[in-house]
Amino acid sequence: MAQINDHYLKLKAGYLFPEIGRRVKKYCETHPDANVIRLGIGDVTEPLPPAIVQAMHAAVDEMASRDTFRGYGPEQGYDFLRQAIVDNCFANRGCQVDADEVFVSDGSKCDTGNILDIFGNNNVVAITDPVYPVYVDTNVMAGRTGQADESGRYAGLVYLPVTAENNFVPELPAQKVDLIYLCYPNNPTGTVATKETLQKWVDYAKSHDAIIFFDAAYESFISNPEIPHSIYEVEGAKDVAIEFRSFSKNAGFTGTRCAFTVVPKTLQGKSADGSHHSIHALWNRRHCTKFNGVSYPIQRGAEAAYSPEGKSQIAELIAFYMQNATLLRDGLQKVGIQVYGGQDAPYVWLKTPNNLTSWAFFDHLLESSHLVGTPGSGFGAAGEGYFRLSAFNSRANVEEAVDRIQKLLT
Ligand code: MLT
Repeated sequence: MAQINDHYLKLKAGYLFPEIGRRVKKYCETHPDANVIRLGIGDVTEPLPPAIVQAMHAAVDEMASRDTFRGYGPEQGYDFLRQAIVDNCFANRGCQVDADEVFVSDGSKCDTGNILDIFGNNNVVAITDPVYPVYVDTNVMAGRTGQADESGRYAGLVYLPVTAENNFVPELPAQKVDLIYLCYPNNPTGTVATKETLQKWVDYAKSHDAIIFFDAAYESFISNPEIPHSIYEVEGAKDVAIEFRSFSKNAGFTGTRCAFTVVPKTLQGKSADGSHHSIHALWNRRHCTKFNGVSYPIQRGAEAAYSPEGKSQIAELIAFYMQNATLLRDGLQKVGIQVYGGQDAPYVWLKTPNNLTSWAFFDHLLESSHLVGTPGSGFGAAGEGYFRLSAFNSRANVEEAVDRIQKLLT
């Protein structure tokens, strides 16, 4: 009999979002008349911007003609998209990123998991707590942890709590760590990091020979001009950080799939014999071996996100979702709920009322108000007593959700 990867047996029952989906499905089966509003998973609801749709249509037409048909594309992404990314995400912010440092992919979830392929299993990994569960689960799968304790914390990982007590700013690790996951604007707490905070992390990484995985999937939702959109806005970051970006949430690509990862050519790691090696070269090798690239029409659609029409249509989409976030924040505050985030990020993080546990509040909200959110403890032990609401939904649903919560809590 073939032997399985035993590390998978250490994983908690199910990945958080499918687990919520399972519970909600079960509830709906027994309550078929309930009008359930889902503010759980951060999945976009509004259609793709017209400029993007148009570019995708045109690219599909190209594929229909012998003269313009394209087969395999470059695994790292077409030059037209890599260059558009550099011009519109980095050069415009004074960050020196080269087009060949950009690797186009089908998602940041995949990339943040896959990046572990090129790092040894002896690295000590630091994650904030609560955290996007993919970072933890992929390290468990790779065998970089021991078993989980009752609170769900895995032996071997260094957890850095982010709660209201420390204003959602993680302390630097007390011990030496090698790989550090940072996500800003933060999923799940919706909070942001200042340039000073990021500088502290970059300085730590430099002095401890660590590498930062910086997940900036929600950077487009930043409205505060003081907040950096990229870690490369911070001095020295190109020597220590890999950045993950996505078209999912800003341009509505959760279904169409396009993202990118920046791996600087200056980034180095060391092998077992102590010699230094280019992380960029390793990632390129991995990417070309295991990935065939994002489809041509989708990359043309992503490129159109940077056209003048694309930019203004995306700005409207973001303003729409952020207005939803404001409605959620204001509505919750009116009934005395303590809220965080939701100002530079599409997630509102709240303290559960009456000290309910996160899952108890999940059940209460589902059963009494037919609303779905995400229990904070699903993101980590330090998320217990918190709850996340996503601003990705129609205006009518968000207004209705606020109304139902207010009725429930007054
Ligand atoms: C979330 O709800 O945290 C995200 O939608 C998950 C993801 O982007 O994979």
